[in-house]
Amino acid sequence: MSETAEPESNVPAAPVSSSSADPDATTSPPRRRRKEQWGSRLGVIMAVAGSAVGLGNFLRFPGQAAQNGGGAFMLPYFISLLILGIPLCWTEWTMGRFGGTRGFHSAPGIFCVLCRTPKARYLSVFALLIPLVIYMYYIVIEAWCLAYAWNYATGDLMLGKDSAAYESFFSDFVGIGEDGHAFGGGGSPLLLFIAITFVLNFILIYRGVAKGIETFCKFAIPLMVVCALCVLARVLTLPSDQVNDGLGFMWNPKPEALTDPKTWLAASGQIFFSLSVGFGVIINYSSYLTKKDDVVLSGLTACSMNEFFEVCLGGLITLPAAFIFLGVSVASFGTFGLGFNALPNVFAQMYAGQLFGFLWFFMLFLAAVTSSLSMLQPFIAFLEEGFDLERHASATLLGIIALAGSLFVVYFSAGLKALDTFDFWVGTFLIFVLAMIQAVVYGWVFGIDRGEHEAHIGAHMRIPRFVQLLLKYVVPVYLGVIFVAFFFQNVLDRKDPETGEVIQGYFSTIIQDRVALMSVIFLLGVTALLLVLIHLAGARWLQSGRLQRALADEASTVADQPKGTS
Ligand code: ALA
Repeated sequence: MSETAEPESNVPAAPVSSSSADPDATTSPPRRRRKEQWGSRLGVIMAVAGSAVGLGNFLRFPGQAAQNGGGAFMLPYFISLLILGIPLCWTEWTMGRFGGTRGFHSAPGIFCVLCRTPKARYLSVFALLIPLVIYMYYIVIEAWCLAYAWNYATGDLMLGKDSAAYESFFSDFVGIGEDGHAFGGGGSPLLLFIAITFVLNFILIYRGVAKGIETFCKFAIPLMVVCALCVLARVLTLPSDQVNDGLGFMWNPKPEALTDPKTWLAASGQIFFSLSVGFGVIINYSSYLTKKDDVVLSGLTACSMNEFFEVCLGGLITLPAAFIFLGVSVASFGTFGLGFNALPNVFAQMYAGQLFGFLWFFMLFLAAVTSSLSMLQPFIAFLEEGFDLERHASATLLGIIALAGSLFVVYFSAGLKALDTFDFWVGTFLIFVLAMIQAVVYGWVFGIDRGEHEAHIGAHMRIPRFVQLLLKYVVPVYLGVIFVAFFFQNVLDRKDPETGEVIQGYFSTIIQDRVALMSVIFLLGVTALLLVLIHLAGARWLQSGRLQRALADEASTVADQPKGTS
């Protein structure tokens, strides 16, 4: 049974009782509300894996590897996976379930019970901002994928071998040349595809975590595997010397890249983006788990599925295929160039390319939907538990805010400046910040002994003890070093060590570029709005006594625990 009814607190001034078993119980008549829960263990793994597997696996990963030392990139990549990715995933699964079993499913409430103070809710602002803002531009790319799949189905993307034809198709479709292109006269197909993707996402999110997200992921992930394996089989059965060259281009190590800090930054950034760690998503998804669920094994399984998609499918298809047909020039294509210019040209030159082009972009679309759904749920959960909104009201409010952001991105399409600015500040920079906040909260506030105890409730396998020590001492330092290096590498201007040329950082870009500046102002506006909402939600929880009860229960649980376990 995936949905039950639970009493919901929505009235002020309930007495505080440390023995209250139900954090939502008050002295007033309870209001019945649908309680969200995952339908099955497989379902939640599919949903979390679906959140992780996305455009990052198939487009971002090959582009990052090619630009950062090919096979050599895999060394910092796997080190980041083992030291940061998997341990931080476990902390998010653990902290999320901890908050969920105490009656909170959104980051503000979860942070309050983790840190045992209502003030901690403000720390969680990035856990709402990151998924919301990433959704705003991710959905636009998702719509491109749907449009490309459709254009393959109709044959409109079989444009021959001239690479200029694909570039002009892409730039005309997304409006890379001028702002407001999509809003020009005659109606834009881009807006139509965005509307379709938006509606699909909101129908699924409206249906809830079990009936909407979980059901969709259980059907989409196997379908993605089938589509990707078909395309992989096609690529690997091209003439063998060409396949070897293509794989060599992607995977032959360039060891000199290992001494460049940029490679290490790119590797850890890729791990975060790809696993959806530091997104505020896993902490929300895992809050719907119960004490019977195994967060250790589920977290590891979801990470493993993501790596299968990323390394085995993304790493073997995108770049090797592009190299076979287009040669070394593909290294300079960048993520979107690779995905939307190079690959369509590749499919046009391949036998049955129309079919494989369709399968590829349809698979990308499914992967993107399973990820974008996970970006909507944290804010929906917050609106519902913070303001007692029903799902139609919370979905409508979220839809208005998300649509405003997406239209901003679509309107300021020249050079994809708005998208790029959102992606840099939120999809890259703030992910590090949130990961750091979560690591410190887990290691130093919640405590690794409590974390270890909590993680192993319902678990069938143990996390080695050294991982807890790693989380407390190594991860925050590692993240701090990455953060400082990242700041100097990307935010401030710097000189190219070889040419001596000044490379503009994102800070100067904001000052000099009108759209970048407006994008940052937009982001600050959304952050301010979220802070106000978090403040108001916390005030409501305090007024109703809900937060005090959760904290009092928590205090008694901690006091009851044997020494050394809290
Ligand atoms: N983790 C998601 C992706 O890789 C966001 O696209």
